[in-house]
Amino acid sequence: MTTTSTSTRLEFRKLTGRIGAEVTGAGPALELDAGTVTALRAALNEHKALVFRGISIDDEGQQRFARYFGELTTAHPTVPAVAGAPNVLPVDSEDGRSNHWHTDVTFVLNPPQASTLRSVVVPPYGGETLIASAAAAYRDLPAPLRDFAGTLWAVHTNDYDYAIPPESLDEAERERRAVFISIRYETVHPVVRVHPLTGERGLFIGGFAQRIVGLSTGESRDILRLLQAYVTRPENVLRLAWEPGQLVLFDNRITQHYAIDNYDDAPRRLNRVTVAGDVPVGADGKQSYALKGDASHYTPVAGAGRGVSSPGAS
Ligand code: SIN
Repeated sequence: MTTTSTSTRLEFRKLTGRIGAEVTGAGPALELDAGTVTALRAALNEHKALVFRGISIDDEGQQRFARYFGELTTAHPTVPAVAGAPNVLPVDSEDGRSNHWHTDVTFVLNPPQASTLRSVVVPPYGGETLIASAAAAYRDLPAPLRDFAGTLWAVHTNDYDYAIPPESLDEAERERRAVFISIRYETVHPVVRVHPLTGERGLFIGGFAQRIVGLSTGESRDILRLLQAYVTRPENVLRLAWEPGQLVLFDNRITQHYAIDNYDDAPRRLNRVTVAGDVPVGADGKQSYALKGDASHYTPVAGAGRGVSSPGAS
């Protein structure tokens, strides 16, 4: 019996010079053979974000697709999953808006290596997701800043500096925030992370990075703001407009994203499934370390490649 390799039909169309490609030829159900998965992984390494249009999958299909790239995390360390789908996080405008730059779940020791977002309810206008290349940002830094950044380590926490102060929240928002920080996490990550598959360096900061080790809060804020400005340069950002039947797979080791809050009160819903990640490694070869919070109920620890070991294993 012969099998047709889907990989032979795959095509990639760049969406910007520095980040993003649209994939065609993967089929509406995203049921992939090994060759296709290998081709997609290579494309993800290159483009950082891969966009699939005209797909026809449900939560089960999204979990199956994400699992091609490694073992899944549960939905979130503290936020409940979609009922009956423990690996699916509802990203629903009813529950808040992720209009801050971040990399998913960097407050745990081994944040997801990749994230998938699938359109479920698309607003009539706006609601785009911005995805930035942290690798391009690193390359844009002047050499002295690049060297300096490579010496820095940052504390990431889920109890971060929210854009909206607590006194401005209504009851439901206060409750959601309490759930989000029901387990407090603090982890120290390198500011420059070396990608385990490509060796590429990227700025590994974002909204959960609150403090630079050894610096005051004020000094940390200034340095993080300076570095973050390179991540969010328009040249380094893909602006992804959502449509029904769309999925994006992005490399959570070397990107940041931001959900634009520009759709008034229209409903917007994406479902998110993430792939378990490895412990980040800095430019000096040293690994991240946890200060607070156990995430073993949320994620296994992936090796530098695809392999996954049980939580707590060395
Ligand atoms: C997320 O932060 O994972 C969701 C991004 C979005 O809503 O566009």
